Amino acid sequence: MNFLSIQGPAHLDQKSIIEAGSFYTPRHLVDEVGKMIQPYLDENDNPIIFDSSVGGGAFTQLMDGYDYRMADSDPVSCNILSAFADRNRVFHSNSLNEVSREKYLIPEDAYLIQIGNPPYNDTTSAYKKGEKGANECDPDLFDRDLGVSFLRSYAKLNSNLVCVLHPLAYLVKETNFKRLRTFRENYILRDAVIFSSSTFSGTGKGKFPIIIGLYEKNHEGMDYEFIRDFQFRILDTSKTFQLSKHETTDGFITKYPPRKNDPKESPIGLYYYTFRDINSLLRSASFQTQPHYNAIVVTLENLYQYAYLFALRSLFNPTDRWLYGNLSPLIDRTFVEEHQSELVRYAMDQHPAFSELPEKTLNQIRSYYGVPGKEISSVIEDIEAELKTAINQLVD
Ligand SMILES: C[S@@+](CC[C@H](N)C(=O)[O-])C[C@H]1O[C@@H](n2cnc3c(N)ncnc32)[C@H](O)[C@@H]1O
Repeated sequence: MNFLSIQGPAHLDQKSIIEAGSFYTPRHLVDEVGKMIQPYLDENDNPIIFDSSVGGGAFTQLMDGYDYRMADSDPVSCNILSAFADRNRVFHSNSLNEVSREKYLIPEDAYLIQIGNPPYNDTTSAYKKGEKGANECDPDLFDRDLGVSFLRSYAKLNSNLVCVLHPLAYLVKETNFKRLRTFRENYILRDAVIFSSSTFSGTGKGKFPIIIGLYEKNHEGMDYEFIRDFQFRILDTSKTFQLSKHETTDGFITKYPPRKNDPKESPIGLYYYTFRDINSLLRSASFQTQPHYNAIVVTLENLYQYAYLFALRSLFNPTDRWLYGNLSPLIDRTFVEEHQSELVRYAMDQHPAFSELPEKTLNQIRSYYGVPGKEISSVIEDIEAELKTAINQLVD
């Protein structure tokens, strides 16, 4: 049997592509999945390879010579695939509905390998509010992100091995990781390689990291500490990424606007626009002088912290910036504590909001942080160079 695959979803319009996440996978990533599952194919008798979001069939080349299953909710791709695959092994269905081995004629004792590129909706991808397709699925699989539902569906099928593409954020953002539930409780990550979302054309402007994750079924599952210490490979480089090696602003700099009973007015008339992660920090406004429901209250005491975020926003530009986009802002706390004055001087010189503050407030800030009344531009350039070096060293 020789599988072919559709090169792209030419039969779908842009809206359908976004709704179903029909971004087909390039060959070199499929080959990577092939390499990762090969040892398990060699070790197990009569494995069944299943792609439950098969789309154009990019992964079907890995099924050659093995028993397989394919499924997709898109009737056209199923029809095309049925032309060269066994019709009884191609399922036109919602892979998140009535999930069981029986549905796909997979024996309970078969060694099941799940591969593919399930759809996902990340806020930085082309999915915008209201644009995503409805996630109709078994209640235990429901999540606002289709990709999370797909991962749980693999656990529900009692798959023995899972090797799929998904956003790195599913693992490294603790709140997302918890949402994986049955998947994180029953699987352990054995290998993972990171690449940029820009590999897929049309997935939206903000680049973000995606992984090919290889997971083995395991009764102990994985906890967040395990993920923090995991060494992710980075595709086509000899570099690795390990979350626990990076310090973030979490627990140090407040990200969110005041809660119900917190003061809403800044004593120095300064606010900072809320942010979730590095991507949103880089995209959103920074200092402002008007209170806003989405703005954090800046005080004399915490001003240097937001001055740091402003410096990060202006100066953080490593070649692999996309890799860090979904993380909380990175920081070297010792450096920031020791450079409070420089950070405030840089922000006061560079951000127009400060020129809107009354002289009295500016003097208050200057005296608190030891800022001279008049700045010399060459000194600010030196400060900028020092901050830039420190900020870009955060990812070396
Ligand atoms: C990112 S594409 C990947 C396609 C293919 N695996 C590839 O890499 O070329 C995701 C596929 O998931 C399908 N899909 C989306 N929701 C689905 C669902 N609930 N059940 C089955 N397939 C679904 C889409 O039709 C689309 O073909």
